Amino acid sequence: LNNGLAKTPQMGWNSWNFFACDINEIVIKETADALLTTGLAKLGYNYVNIDDCWSELVRDSKGQLVPDSKTFPSGIKALADYVHSKGLKLGIYSDAGAFTCQVRPGSIFHESDDAKLFASWGVDYLKYDNCFNLGIPPKERYPPMRDALNATGRSIFYSLCEWGVDDPALWAGTVGNSWRTTDDINDSWASMTTIADLNDKWAAYAGPGGWNDPDMLEVGNGGMTYEEYRAHFSIWALMKAPLLIGCDVRNITSEAFEILSNEEVISVNQDPLGVQGRKVYAYGADNSYQVWAGPLSGQRLAVVLWNRGSKTASITVKWDVLGLESSISVSVRDLWKHNYVSANSMAYFSARVDAHSSEMYVFTPSMTFSAS
Ligand code: GLA
Repeated sequence: LNNGLAKTPQMGWNSWNFFACDINEIVIKETADALLTTGLAKLGYNYVNIDDCWSELVRDSKGQLVPDSKTFPSGIKALADYVHSKGLKLGIYSDAGAFTCQVRPGSIFHESDDAKLFASWGVDYLKYDNCFNLGIPPKERYPPMRDALNATGRSIFYSLCEWGVDDPALWAGTVGNSWRTTDDINDSWASMTTIADLNDKWAAYAGPGGWNDPDMLEVGNGGMTYEEYRAHFSIWALMKAPLLIGCDVRNITSEAFEILSNEEVISVNQDPLGVQGRKVYAYGADNSYQVWAGPLSGQRLAVVLWNRGSKTASITVKWDVLGLESSISVSVRDLWKHNYVSANSMAYFSARVDAHSSEMYVFTPSMTFSAS
């Protein structure tokens, strides 16, 4: 969506994956504080997004949405002010239907009122869900909120959460700043790998202004191993997915922090070229040995070697699958070990990759001189 936002994929935190409906203004404020004290905010995680369950079960007598008086007694404006005072941005959630998924009032047919209300509170981001959608296609239900947000004059990131219904990549580029390509993620290897493959299919449609959204990060929630979470984060970064932390940042483990704070991996995600990396090669039993790659600015390439199998293996990437001439010499930077792999590689590169694990690199081909 050409609204000046989402030049690179959005980064921040969202309440749903860890807290689900168990949210309140204290959790949101403490999370904003924790993003600052941990240093995550400085690395780019600047949206603090409230998901479902922030509102009362019914609108007020004037038809307006009302924050839950028990859990958000100070209101959303006060929360936005707090978050802004920390240099962060506030996101909120509603639904392109009669109710949200947790049966709070939805925004369909109230787009203009709700957009004005969100803008008056100082909201910077709207996640717009797909429950109770009255059987109306997403293509018809999502544009009215785009127009309503635009009409407020406030710059508001518009995140479509239509679960991949009706192939949004094909139509959402002019509707939202990101669109979901799949059902909800859960905190498991099976879910994460399935979603990565589904999202991969739409790579060609992502770019500055509008990104494929394979759902929020589960890193730090406990259902995967350190290596599995590292693969999750590496692939999400390479796919130019939104990097929305989904764990309790106030109590983040050092392993989760190490993964989410890897600046070199974040730079791949935030690279100004904005091209979604994709699965370029897969081989071995069940195609478990995979090469995912994509171009970066400065003629560089991001490469992930991903072992989805159950045994350690040597995975090889040949230059031809990267579109490079085999004679080109490439310097290889390891983004998890934070060093250059000794000699420049020619024609191919191999690494040992543990089961359910991945390695991530930036490849810089040597300069080629064209005859003038
Ligand atoms: C849907 C969305 C999730 C989350 C929940 C909240 O399932 O896809 O991301 O927002 O609703 O109820």
